[in-house]
Amino acid sequence: MAKVLVVCATRAGQTQKIGEFIAEGVRMAGHEARVVKTGEIKTEADLEGYDGYVFGSATYHGDMLQGMKQVLFLTEKAGLEGKAGGSFGAYGWSGEAPGRIFQTMVNIFRMNMVPSHLQLKSSSLGGGQKMAQDYGKSIADKI
Ligand SMILES: Cc1cc2nc3c(=O)[nH]c(=O)nc-3n(C[C@H](O)[C@H](O)[C@H](O)COP(=O)(O)O)c2cc1C
Repeated sequence: MAKVLVVCATRAGQTQKIGEFIAEGVRMAGHEARVVKTGEIKTEADLEGYDGYVFGSATYHGDMLQGMKQVLFLTEKAGLEGKAGGSFGAYGWSGEAPGRIFQTMVNIFRMNMVPSHLQLKSSSLGGGQKMAQDYGKSIADKI
C-alpha cells in the first residue's frame, strides 16, 4: 500500500476541506493518505517516506499563503524527483496559488505530476467533493 501526503495552507478552512476529499479519493483507490497543515512540516525530514505529494494553498492577494512557500523551500531539499504529485486550492476569482505550486513541482522538483492542478471555489459547490475525490484517485493512478 502506497502513502500520499496532502499538505494544506488555509486561512478559512476551504482548502483543508478540499484536501480531505482528495485524501478520501486516495483511500478509495486503496492507498493511505495523511492530511497535514503547513505548520506541521518543520524540516525536510517531515516530507520523507511518502510515494505521492499533494500540495494545496488558498489564493490571497493573488498569491499562495506564506506557509506553502516555506513548505516548497523545504521540498527543494527533500529530493522528490519522480514522485507522484498534484496541487490544489480554494479561490474566489483569480486562483493563482495552485497553478504556481504545480509549476514549481514540475520545473524545480521534477515530480511525476497529474495532468493539471485543481482549483475549486468551494468543496461544496458544483460537484466539488467528487472532483476532489477524483483528483485523489488520479494521484493514486500515478503511483
Ligand atoms: C482578503 C482576501 C483576499 C483574497 N484574495 C483573493 C485573490 O487575490 N484571488 C482569489 O482568487 N481569491 C481571493 N480571495 C478569496 C479566497 O481565496 C477564498 O475565500 C478561499 O475560499 C479561501 O480559502 P481558505 O478557506 O482555504 O482560506 C481572497 C479572500 C480574502 C478574504
